[in-house]
Amino acid sequence: MPTDRLVLRRPDDWHVHLRDGAMLKAVLPFTAHQFGRAIIMPNLKPPVTRTADAVAYRERILAALPEGHAFTPLMTAYLTDGTDADDLAQGFEDGVFAAAKLYPANATTNSAHGVTDLGKIAPVLERMAEIGMPLLIHGEVTDAHVDIFDREAVFLERTLGPLLERYAALRVVLEHATTAEAVAFVREHAASGRVGATITAHHLLINRSHLFAGGIRPHLYCLPIAKRETHRVALVEAATSGEGPFFLGTDTAPHTVTAKESACGCAGCFTAANAMELYAEAFDEAGALDKLEAFASLNGPRFYGLPVNEDKVVLERTPSTTPDIVLTADGEAVLPFRSGETTRWTFAGAA
Ligand code: DOR
Ligand code: ZN
Repeated sequence: MPTDRLVLRRPDDWHVHLRDGAMLKAVLPFTAHQFGRAIIMPNLKPPVTRTADAVAYRERILAALPEGHAFTPLMTAYLTDGTDADDLAQGFEDGVFAAAKLYPANATTNSAHGVTDLGKIAPVLERMAEIGMPLLIHGEVTDAHVDIFDREAVFLERTLGPLLERYAALRVVLEHATTAEAVAFVREHAASGRVGATITAHHLLINRSHLFAGGIRPHLYCLPIAKRETHRVALVEAATSGEGPFFLGTDTAPHTVTAKESACGCAGCFTAANAMELYAEAFDEAGALDKLEAFASLNGPRFYGLPVNEDKVVLERTPSTTPDIVLTADGEAVLPFRSGETTRWTFAGAA
């Protein structure tokens, strides 16, 4: 008999874009409804670079939180060539920053202020290694000569491998892993306990052909871009293995419909509205529902050295319909991933 009802410790989302202002207010309730904690990405305009920025942003998030949600935002610092190592370390030691995010300059949305050369932040990386502050990495090279589908694999070889050798104590998370090479890389370093990887729901469910099914599908475009089917299969195998280094990070990244449906559309899939339903579907298809709790609720806290959530949530095998559209107070629209479609699972709230 297949399981029709799953009770899990409340999951956390280790990679979320909440944005700010009216967008924050519109999207936060979805993440706060399903997850206990979330790692909040700092790529605002301007980015969250200093401890004081993160304190202020955290207050705006908490102020936007609907009544009755015990949700904890875990803040991150956006690294730039000019990051002040003392401010960063102080922010981590004071419990403001949970981690720092490395965007190679111009790799993705709002990354223009990112790091142009890792040599420029050598003192920052040394300090992070010393104090045990995790480095969260957008793992793609920005070299335009490298094919967009190869940018992650090339990054592992050119950048991440040497980085791990150089900073022997640095803890890193390869965010939104999308390739079989990434899965193998993380496993090669598993014994060290200092390399983790988040995997999104959309990368478990779509491959690059879905981006062009019947026409171009701007709402499926994200970075790193979805790869071919063999890679999706490798990601499903990793996520459903239960192995410690692999944990849940949706990379939910809302953009307005206008920004997505454009001659030069923004990268990002908005998956917060049905995140656990999507993961449940992917795990169900792999016959691995028994591994969902490790991936969604146990492996992340272990990597970050945090306690697991005490409360539990229920997922039921009943179809749920994803909202067609989410509106912000200033009249902008955001389309959820699988907008208006049915998913075979329902997030039924607290147990
Ligand atoms: O698809 C993406 N969207 N990938 C990223 O790395 C950034 C994100 C965003 O902020 O929109
Ligand atoms: Zn992201």
